[in-house]
Amino acid sequence: TNSKLWGGRFSEATDKLVEEFNASVSFDQRLAAYDIRGSIAHAGMLAAQGIITVDEAEAIQQGLEGILEDVLAGNFEWRVDREDVHMNVEAVLRERIGSVAGKLHTARSRNDQVATDFRLFVFDAALELASSLRELRGVFIAQAEQYLDAEVILPGYTHLQVAQPILLSHWFLAYAEMLERDESRFRDAAERMDECPLGAGALAGTPWPIDRFQTARALGFSRPTRNSLDSVGSRDFALEFLSACSIAMAHLSRLSEELVLYSTFEFGFLTLPDAFTTGSSIMPQKKNPDVSELTRGKAGRVFGDLVALLTVVKGTPLAYNKDLQEDKEPVFDAYDTLRVVLRLHTEMMPRATWNADRMLAAAQRGYSTATDLADLLARSGVPFREAHEVVGTLVGKCVREGRQLWDLTSEELAGAHPNLANVTPDQLTVQASVASRTVYGGTAPSAVRELLGRAKRRLELL
Ligand code: ARG
Repeated sequence: TNSKLWGGRFSEATDKLVEEFNASVSFDQRLAAYDIRGSIAHAGMLAAQGIITVDEAEAIQQGLEGILEDVLAGNFEWRVDREDVHMNVEAVLRERIGSVAGKLHTARSRNDQVATDFRLFVFDAALELASSLRELRGVFIAQAEQYLDAEVILPGYTHLQVAQPILLSHWFLAYAEMLERDESRFRDAAERMDECPLGAGALAGTPWPIDRFQTARALGFSRPTRNSLDSVGSRDFALEFLSACSIAMAHLSRLSEELVLYSTFEFGFLTLPDAFTTGSSIMPQKKNPDVSELTRGKAGRVFGDLVALLTVVKGTPLAYNKDLQEDKEPVFDAYDTLRVVLRLHTEMMPRATWNADRMLAAAQRGYSTATDLADLLARSGVPFREAHEVVGTLVGKCVREGRQLWDLTSEELAGAHPNLANVTPDQLTVQASVASRTVYGGTAPSAVRELLGRAKRRLELL
């Protein structure tokens, strides 16, 4: 005989190793509060539909509330031989209130139960991460505002080669845009997963006269899911969550890469706060950007979580398969990781100090205003391609002679093209370059100020 909740048809006990391999309680106990909420709603609905008596429902609900208190207080004994969170809770409920506990599982399966618990968890996690992303966006917007009046300039890069000068505020707002989309991805995903699978049963629905709309409402879902096979067999809500986590981590990893680079001695754009850096046990001078490096590293871990679940799901026939028990750990891991990374950056970013002189000096190197010279020439009617060629020749000359574009004499300029004779050095400064890019979305102070205003208004909305 077999003492499990499902032991009736078995004539021998479960192998110990199988029991351990099969068990999910070590991690799915994290769903306990959702599992109990789901069961309380289910019992209430069963009574309302006359499937169990009101007294039975009350006994079950009180028992469950006591269990929830013990779980939250850390006084609940989780047992591996009871496999998962669902059967641990139900077994203890039976110990406490007797055989009436057995009526709770009427018109329900662990398949719709776990799908419900997990959706509730992922829904809350998605909205929480969305708010945290919003908070971090606020930090970036505040920084953009802080450096805008001083018109702090740094080099903008493509291929990590100096490209054109940009405002530091423009750089901050670029990340604010990414964080805004990251937030909306979580909110979109939450909206789509806002459906309750409870009542789908094992896979085919139930003959009991349950009210799925009532349990959906009681659990805060907007509506029940439709197709019962899809309800118990699909995990794309978790995949969307993991995709949103992965994309946000990709953005934070790019940021980290820039912070690592810009805080080097060689760049010197940025000093990270001491409280967010670490030292070396051998080299006394070191101050290492571990938070940024680990964020970059943990992006790989979160992408792994997404790929893990995609791979779990791809080979499973409809509807539920035990493979799906592997859905939880990647989600917990990605959630825990992104959550702490967002908190760290919300604290760290406002405390980083930017070295305007170093950034300006770097922006002035690398012929970052060569495009401006080509644009000046093209404005005189010369086709841009030809202007590009002329300026390229001048840059080559400057590189060979170790000079800057603004060092060129009017004779030299006129020699390259007659229309360049009147170009003056002040037209080739990084400040002039930045100031000229007034296009919507460009880096000119006026354009940045306009989009900063819009970004602040969107931040206040919700
Ligand atoms: N622990 C299981 C999971 O996480 C619960 C559902 C089990 N259902 C079943 N038919 N064995 O997926």
